[in-house]
Amino acid sequence: MTDLKSKIDPSRIPSHIAIIMDGNGRWAKERGQERVYGHYEGVVSVREIVNTCGELGVKYLTLYAFSTENWNRPKAEVDALMELLVNTIRKEVDDLKKNNVKLHVIGDFASLPEVCQKEMNEGMEITGENTGLNLVLALSYSSRLEILNASKALASKVAKGELLAENITEEDFKSCLDTCNFPDPELMIRTSGESRISNFLLYQLAYAELYFTPVHWPDFRKDNLFEAVLDYQKRERRFGKTSDQIQKTTV
Ligand code: IPE
Ligand code: IPE
Ligand code: MG
Repeated sequence: MTDLKSKIDPSRIPSHIAIIMDGNGRWAKERGQERVYGHYEGVVSVREIVNTCGELGVKYLTLYAFSTENWNRPKAEVDALMELLVNTIRKEVDDLKKNNVKLHVIGDFASLPEVCQKEMNEGMEITGENTGLNLVLALSYSSRLEILNASKALASKVAKGELLAENITEEDFKSCLDTCNFPDPELMIRTSGESRISNFLLYQLAYAELYFTPVHWPDFRKDNLFEAVLDYQKRERRFGKTSDQIQKTTV
């Protein structure tokens, strides 16, 4: 097996990777199993990817675990996912603490079952002092809702006279998003072959490099992440400039 890790340039690791973990259901179906079996196996990938990001020195990893649209799935699947979330945090929190991982949540937290909120709050408290990888779970997350809420928060500041509408800056807007404490992702990965964003970080992904792979999430492991990072490192991030301009600033 080739040593993919050694090919990665350690000086150009993305500081924030965001992942749409897709394909658990199809992975299970292909094995003649129930969809939830895919979700269970997906947790194994989560553990491995969290550890690998820590190993690479990635500072932020945002995982799309449950969208607001996912509430429309059959109740049995939603219940199984919520139970899996609670059990996983309960089981993993000691390792997260030991591995210097700090847990965060974005999304419509209040819409989660109380037991999930409690487990997540405990997890965030237990890992609150950690200084390594920031693990951000997007739970009951909708980017459009997040943007709408930010607009409401700004409108309310204007109504109270705390801010002048014409003076609103990009920074003011960003400070009202759930992601206000995190930099924008440089790399967004979606597994399982779908080439869409599905209401994930619409504002924050403005200049992210997008990486789509046919690999289902339960099969996405260490080497798959190394491949994604290597692909990212081959790209030229131009931010509207010309290639010549970029090359002059990097030599
Ligand atoms: C991703 O896998 C997990 C969640 C959305 C919770 P899916 O459950 O979407 O799997 P597919 O896309 O149906 O195969
Ligand atoms: C996106 O996956 C949400 C998560 C990975 C949590 P979906 O499987 O729900 O997305 P669509 O519906 O196929 O776009
Ligand atoms: Mg899916």
